[in-house]
Amino acid sequence: MRPFLVVLIALLMLLSPAPFGAQVTAPAKPDSVRMAVIGDMGTGETPQYDISRRMMEAHATFPFDFVIMLGDNIYGGSTPSDVDRKFSTPYKPLLDAGVKFYASLGNHDNSNERFYAPYNMNGAAYYAFKKGNVRFFALNSNYMDPQQLEWLENELKGGGDGDWKICFFHHPLYSSGKTHGSSTDLRQVLEPLFIKYHVDVVFAGHDHVYERVKPQNGIYYFTEGASGELRAGDLKQTAMTAKGFDSDNTFMLVEFAGSAMNFQTISRAGQTVDSGTIQRQVRSSANVLPPASSILGAVVVRTIAGAAR
Ligand SMILES: [Fe+2]
Repeated sequence: MRPFLVVLIALLMLLSPAPFGAQVTAPAKPDSVRMAVIGDMGTGETPQYDISRRMMEAHATFPFDFVIMLGDNIYGGSTPSDVDRKFSTPYKPLLDAGVKFYASLGNHDNSNERFYAPYNMNGAAYYAFKKGNVRFFALNSNYMDPQQLEWLENELKGGGDGDWKICFFHHPLYSSGKTHGSSTDLRQVLEPLFIKYHVDVVFAGHDHVYERVKPQNGIYYFTEGASGELRAGDLKQTAMTAKGFDSDNTFMLVEFAGSAMNFQTISRAGQTVDSGTIQRQVRSSANVLPPASSILGAVVVRTIAGAAR
């Protein structure tokens, strides 16, 4: 090969974009349930698009079937052109690949998003669905009223003993974010139900950081509120922090394989910032704390639309 060609090829290799930096660690077993998790992403700005590209790169080796959205899906206006710029365009390659999105509503979301077909909410602000042996409960943490709590209790009662129970919604029950932190009023009404009916894992957003919290009463809590927005330096690592990351945007990959849940959190730069495996605990009904019925009269309203992101 001519010398100038060798130099040219070497130059092109140096200038080409960095390959996907994060090796997907989850094994992607044939019968597993695979998903991605994003929260607080709907800005329409560059970081959201960068994260969506990382998601697509990951999808090539870890073909997840769906994405759960932890709220603040569309910031600001929600006209058709907003929805294009803040959802349909950034996630187009995933949508084209047949990936489904399941949304929950954040404080910045227009409640009419529940009628938006690609969000798979079917007009409901809270709803449940099942994938393999995993049951999902999407809650509306903006307005937690007795009807929703009663619905949740009835839903949590059902299903087989071998099923995972996963709840997702916007406001975190446990968070070390300096801006918002733990939603303790919401915790008071939801946690007794989660404990009584053996919820395994909870995903929330709202604080624009990533945090994995040490198990609380046997339940794992993740905050993923940095898939578009980022509040750098906002995580005050506390005694409950198992792993925190607040210097770049992130998203999560999650795989359920039998009684194991593998997770991996990947940054906008393609770096794996957290990963691990959670084994589903078989818990007995005897460890129940307060009867869930005692909190069914409570209403927690957290709608602060228009507030600072
Ligand atoms: Fe929020």
